[in-house]
Amino acid sequence: MAATNDDRNTERHQKWYEPDLDEVNPQIRHLLENYSKISQPHVVNHVNEIRTKGFASNPYPCIGSYRFLNLTLLTHPLYQSILETLKSNSSAIYLDLGCCFGQDLRQLVLDGVPSSRLIGLDIEGPLMDLGYDMFLDKDTLESKFVVADIFKGELQGEPWTGLVERGADVIHCSAFFHLFPLEEQFEAAKSVAKLVNKGGIIVGRQSGSVKPAEVPAIKAGTTSFRHDVNTLSGLWDKVGTATGTKWKVEGSLDEVGVQNKGKNAVEDENSRRLLFTIKRED
Ligand SMILES: C[S@@+](CC[C@H](N)C(=O)[O-])C[C@H]1O[C@@H](n2cnc3c(N)ncnc32)[C@H](O)[C@@H]1O
Repeated sequence: MAATNDDRNTERHQKWYEPDLDEVNPQIRHLLENYSKISQPHVVNHVNEIRTKGFASNPYPCIGSYRFLNLTLLTHPLYQSILETLKSNSSAIYLDLGCCFGQDLRQLVLDGVPSSRLIGLDIEGPLMDLGYDMFLDKDTLESKFVVADIFKGELQGEPWTGLVERGADVIHCSAFFHLFPLEEQFEAAKSVAKLVNKGGIIVGRQSGSVKPAEVPAIKAGTTSFRHDVNTLSGLWDKVGTATGTKWKVEGSLDEVGVQNKGKNAVEDENSRRLLFTIKRED
């Protein structure tokens, strides 16, 4: 699996380590000022410090290039409807898979969803711990953060088996599947499928492509597969056949946030943002 938390490729990792910021986007500023109560002049320094610590722990492009400051769930076309579901259905569960610092989960809390029905999951406990430092909510947030490997599934026992039993109604899964080659995405997706209640959805954003293919992954020598909507749909058809479930995939490709210019670009001219909704129909 394409882990990056080794120090053997530091030169390569520096490609996606941007200089410290001198401003942040208005959405994350709003979240940090209104949810975390960080005062206006301290927001940027605070974010720079968290980025430095996070990258030292795990040198993902999404950390080095500050993509974790983009509240991707907010940009999803279903955001308002997801928000309404989570607020009005007192048993609805949201799971943020590969949540890293958990920024989208905090936005839902700011927007009125009870934090006890929001769960974060990541293989890297230290990144989720850093989320508490970023949002200053260790003592107030009631969400559970689960350290688990999506590839290990039930072999991990609790808390994974508890998640499967309870099931989730909305899974947010951003910048996650695109980390892996197609065969591993299939294994991961079969695992994710077990976590979704009937009628539930998986939503997210990831690197897609107008020419779907394996491309060099963030760990040197490995690949990851970039989808268009058709290949993503094909993957979930396969997942349905393998797991006795049925899925409908909708999505779109656009150029929002695509970093394919300049010598340090981690994406290429075929790269696009893929926004997707995968609904469990049966
Ligand atoms: C590229 S980051 C995206 C973080 C966040 N979703 C976002 O959009 O900002 C991918 C996250 O997936 C986690 N991850 C990688 N492999 C995983 C696995 N096998 N099981 C669970 N989480 C994993 C990483 O630790 C990391 O936090």
